[in-house]
Amino acid sequence: MHPTFASFPKARMRRMRQNAQLRAMVRENIFTPDDLIWPVFVMKGSDNETPVPSMPGVVRRTVDRIAKAAIEAQALGIPAICLFPYTSQEDRTEDCAEAWSPNNLTNQAIRAIKSAAPDIAVMTDIALDPYNINGHDGFVENGEIVNDRTVEALVKMALCQAEAGADILGPSDMMDGRIGAIRSALESEHYQNVTILSYAAKYASGFYGPFRDAVGASAALTGDKKTYQMDPGNSDEALRLVARDIREGADMVMVKPGMPYLDICRRVKDQFGVPTFAYQVSGEYAMIMAASQNGWLDHDAVMMESLLAFKRAGCDGVLSYFAPAAAKLLQG
Ligand code: PBG
Repeated sequence: MHPTFASFPKARMRRMRQNAQLRAMVRENIFTPDDLIWPVFVMKGSDNETPVPSMPGVVRRTVDRIAKAAIEAQALGIPAICLFPYTSQEDRTEDCAEAWSPNNLTNQAIRAIKSAAPDIAVMTDIALDPYNINGHDGFVENGEIVNDRTVEALVKMALCQAEAGADILGPSDMMDGRIGAIRSALESEHYQNVTILSYAAKYASGFYGPFRDAVGASAALTGDKKTYQMDPGNSDEALRLVARDIREGADMVMVKPGMPYLDICRRVKDQFGVPTFAYQVSGEYAMIMAASQNGWLDHDAVMMESLLAFKRAGCDGVLSYFAPAAAKLLQG
């Protein structure tokens, strides 16, 4: 015990917990809607949505419905929305050309949100998996996920998204050198105000399963992502990745998944003090929803407790499928 701390009975730790007022006065961390980024799924068509079975309460929306969702999110005080496309089968190819088509689902959705809800920031995903016939984040040559050719494609994707009006680019691919390449392309094409939130420490995780259902990549994926995503046993490596991405021009960094990797969030924040985000991924959402639907957990309590944990671990914010539900609850 620290020598200046009183001991019992001068110190009774329960004194400061005896009522809501005292507890509120000394609470060290709070969660507000400002801390949320809402990931959403975009699909083809108009005025329609389809549920994602492994993510109860989550739907894929057509572009016009995405714009409506953005208006709602803006009204709830959610500062940012993050787009993931559900690409139709004919747009998944070996050359992934749809990824940098100016009119792909993501780029359409960026423009629709920008005109419907100009006060919400639009974040994108940069990786080839939604467009790749084999479900990988990079090009596959003779069974190998190749790095440098993939980075060139990611740069094209980034420039298209910047052109469509994206505020935050989210490279989630884990190729080496992509942050530097994207940053210098943005600078030379006069997109110097576009921000990058790098998926810097992204682990090869089993918790992405429901997401791959949501974007239709589960069946497509051949093999695993262990040659580019991080080994779950590693922690120092996450710090090296974050250091590198900041040096290459990332404005913000992410740890992913979230709850099983709160130790990484804390180390990143302590070591670098940069804007740090976590992604509470699809599998984490699915676990809480499944238990709640069984009556085994209190949905609202566990949702808010899980979000607050990210703040306590040092995060500035969290990408979460709970965003609208949490913001509604916080609004009262
Ligand atoms: C792929 C990508 C994934 C997620 C976001 N971008 C899955 C993967 O790496 O296979 C997962 C998000 C989630 O599980 O909620 N670029």
